[in-house]
Amino acid sequence: MKEFRSDISGFYKLSFEERQQKISKIVNLNQEEIKVLQNLGYFTTTQIDTLIENVIGSYQLPFGLAFNFKINNKDYIIPMVIEEPSVVAAASNAAKFARKHGGFHSENVKSVMISQIQITQLDDVEIAKRSILENKDQILKIANEQDPFLNELGGGAFDFEIRELDTRKGKMLILHLLVDVLDAMGANVVNTMAEAVSPCIEELSEGKIYLRIVSNLASHRIAKSRATFDKDLLGGDQVVEGILNAYEFALADPYRATTHNKGIMNGIVALTIATGNDTRAIEAGAHAYAALKGQYSPLTKLQVDSDGNLVGEIEIPLALGIIGGMTKIHPMARLALKILNVKSANELSQVAAALGLAQNVAALRALASEGIQKGHMNLHSRNIAKLAGVPDELIEKVARKLVEDKKIRVDYAREILQRIENEKNL
Ligand code: MEV
Repeated sequence: MKEFRSDISGFYKLSFEERQQKISKIVNLNQEEIKVLQNLGYFTTTQIDTLIENVIGSYQLPFGLAFNFKINNKDYIIPMVIEEPSVVAAASNAAKFARKHGGFHSENVKSVMISQIQITQLDDVEIAKRSILENKDQILKIANEQDPFLNELGGGAFDFEIRELDTRKGKMLILHLLVDVLDAMGANVVNTMAEAVSPCIEELSEGKIYLRIVSNLASHRIAKSRATFDKDLLGGDQVVEGILNAYEFALADPYRATTHNKGIMNGIVALTIATGNDTRAIEAGAHAYAALKGQYSPLTKLQVDSDGNLVGEIEIPLALGIIGGMTKIHPMARLALKILNVKSANELSQVAAALGLAQNVAALRALASEGIQKGHMNLHSRNIAKLAGVPDELIEKVARKLVEDKKIRVDYAREILQRIENEKNL
């Protein structure tokens, strides 16, 4: 590819088509690549053009469904958007193991978000604190004036906490504005409220306010779910023992706990994307919560009951919404919410927590028995066959041979294809 400069100014001022043309020229796209760029899937040009800056196309991912979930006695079909093979099947399997014992029991999730206000340069922290606390009603009133509709629906700012922080720039007061955001993810509304109350707080505290922003550690929005996974369906005592050993490993070792939690997030993030929610917020919150007690730890708890079945629990902050953001704009997110049939953000979080728990148990079961690669490789082998240029009608045959011979490589797929063609020509 020819060299190019990246300091391209005014790209955003071009029309959508002009942007596509310009980038095609800069990086020298061929006709086939231009066609890929022009395929916007379910988006219209106008829709996609208003979502982010400098937009040139739309990126699609597989949209699958996990089955067998019964949560609080209601059945769910869970939409998942993920590129990784085996994850959807694994979740469906674990849900089946739990279903035998009544499925998942998820607790109500309060939709309370925190907005942080950072008050610095305080002469007297105690006086500042007192002055803010004495004017709590006025501060909450200003906050709620920013979203009267939310207030009317029963949500809004209802309280705050003040924390003292010792920093290298001296003592700071951190005010946590607590806002019930109801069915929204809530970042926008709490950011607006924090900005609106800041001048008043600055005056009361006689300090200087810098940051006014949501905290993605949504510690007032904790989702909890619990389920019993059938011992025999899991594969018997040995497998359960393996799962418990895997859990102890994760408890003792942050390196393992990270991967343990990654498995949980496979499910939760897939549902987060499917429903048009903010994956970065969910990930950041989950990992911070996992490390809150000092050591990065698993987000699930696993033990056996008196019959030898596996009992799993999960506890995770989940700032998920069913209104606002992309949830109602993205056509696939709307579809996902329809399939999922949830009526509130609370219900969505209850499902997400159950899915995370199922995903964790499924991963540990595979690791404690046949290993994770078998399931992965069956699907992966098809991708490799495709990459090797195997025609559609031979993909299945070549993929099977790759798995059989335990050589899932593009060069080997080509070799098999060659052999098949040679046989045909004999
Ligand atoms: C792979 O995406 C997820 C796992 O690594 C999770 C785990 O190890 O628990 C299988």
